[in-house]
Amino acid sequence: MSQRTKIKALLESEQTDISVIVKGWVRTFRNNQFIALNDGSTNNNIQIVVDFENTDAALLKRITTGAAISVTGTLIASLGKGQKVEVKAKEIEILGDSDPEKYPLQPKKHSLEFLREIAHLRFRTNTFGAIFRVRNSLAFAVHQFFQERGFVYLHTPIITASDAEGAGETFHVTNFDIANPPKTENGEIDYKEDFFGKATNLTVSGQLEGELGAMALSDIYTFGPTFRAENSNTTRHLAEFWMIEPEVAFNDLDDNMDLAEDMLKYVIKYALDKNADDIEFLTQRLLEEEKQKPQQERSEMSLLEKLQFCLDNNFERLTYTEAIEILKESTPNKKKKFQYPVEGWGTDLQSEHERYLVEKHFKKPVILTDYPKEIKAFYMRQNDDGKTVRAMDILFPGIGEIVGGSQREERLEKLEQRMDEMGIPKDELWWYLDTRRFGACPHAGFGLGFERLVLFVTGMGNIRDVIPFPRYPKNAEF
Ligand code: 4AD
Ligand code: MG
Repeated sequence: MSQRTKIKALLESEQTDISVIVKGWVRTFRNNQFIALNDGSTNNNIQIVVDFENTDAALLKRITTGAAISVTGTLIASLGKGQKVEVKAKEIEILGDSDPEKYPLQPKKHSLEFLREIAHLRFRTNTFGAIFRVRNSLAFAVHQFFQERGFVYLHTPIITASDAEGAGETFHVTNFDIANPPKTENGEIDYKEDFFGKATNLTVSGQLEGELGAMALSDIYTFGPTFRAENSNTTRHLAEFWMIEPEVAFNDLDDNMDLAEDMLKYVIKYALDKNADDIEFLTQRLLEEEKQKPQQERSEMSLLEKLQFCLDNNFERLTYTEAIEILKESTPNKKKKFQYPVEGWGTDLQSEHERYLVEKHFKKPVILTDYPKEIKAFYMRQNDDGKTVRAMDILFPGIGEIVGGSQREERLEKLEQRMDEMGIPKDELWWYLDTRRFGACPHAGFGLGFERLVLFVTGMGNIRDVIPFPRYPKNAEF
């Protein structure tokens, strides 16, 4: 009996009157008698009952919020309300003190903004414990989903010389002395002298390399960090985020939509089953938060209902053109309630438009397809109308775009022509074009923004709260 038992296991224990060792961090200590102890294995604390009359006063003083302790004692049926079992302490050892005057996390409600400033400690709150356990389950479920279907997990490079999306939002990677880089005769920075012998950047997407893998392995997926230097200070954007990108040979856009919908439902269901307590806690948290809002701004469904609803309903599938018609005729558009009025065909949808379609019009997840080619990346398959491409975006309630994908242009001539039109350098992407030269075939894939998925499943409102240490403009703390 020298091993500790995790609190989750103790709370579920069928046996009582057994000796146990439990370790964790003190949440509260009341009446010199009751310690609420948490070790992160569950949102629930275990109650430790201290025999204060027979415990050294100096030791009692060191049982403070935030301290790490080890308790040896007996697991007994609890006499008090609120818990089935508790631990009657025989011996308490302080592993790490925590000065209550200085410890930033007090046993009270802190704002999410404040907790972001102490992100190194926020894991110790109920909310963030729940979020990161759910995040973990979702990541595991993503792998399980693809592994069960025979996909190969492919590690695409983090450092690359290409900008897969062609949006010019890359972070440069260099080992030049940036104050004094080598110059060419024309006075330009001489990247030939740089570490890789060319200008390089952090990847914005593993898709292009993913396509190379799919052209041999058939079904691949990536799951890794991606980086975008877009200066958008929003609740939906990060400069460093994790993306899942499956790519499947011989799939068309319909297969691609089926795969994405199946995957989203699978991972949401996995989290619902695996993290029932955490999601119940997050559901209550959201209800509390929404009480602060005026009635008409509160969601019609609770978090739990929203997740269940997403599992029970087919996602609505329609084209961009059909969506524009709906938006043009919509009440908010006619009453000039949209910040960006929907007038003609061809412009990108704003998040207010996406949210109207999902939350007001269809009231369920929506997949929009066949966008105008002008607002989409060069690699998407061109439709016969000469105007649209085989793109798909999945829009989720409260989130907007959660998945972006397409069937790829596998016809060399069409692809080259589009690259020329969009100013994408063909010589640099010679290896990508080779797949269209040697055994090209129809294929399709998509990218799921992992943090947007975690946002949806946890019901949180800001993407900075669902990744341990968020990276955004003017912030790289921790
Ligand atoms: O729509 P995006 O830009 O598509 C791609 O990168 C494609 N190469 C994917 C593919 O077809 N393989 O990004 C995909 C998803 C978005 O739908 C969104 O969920 C997420 O990535 N995303 C972001 N998430 C957080 N912060 C950002 N700055 C994001 N930009 C995109
Ligand atoms: Mg997109």
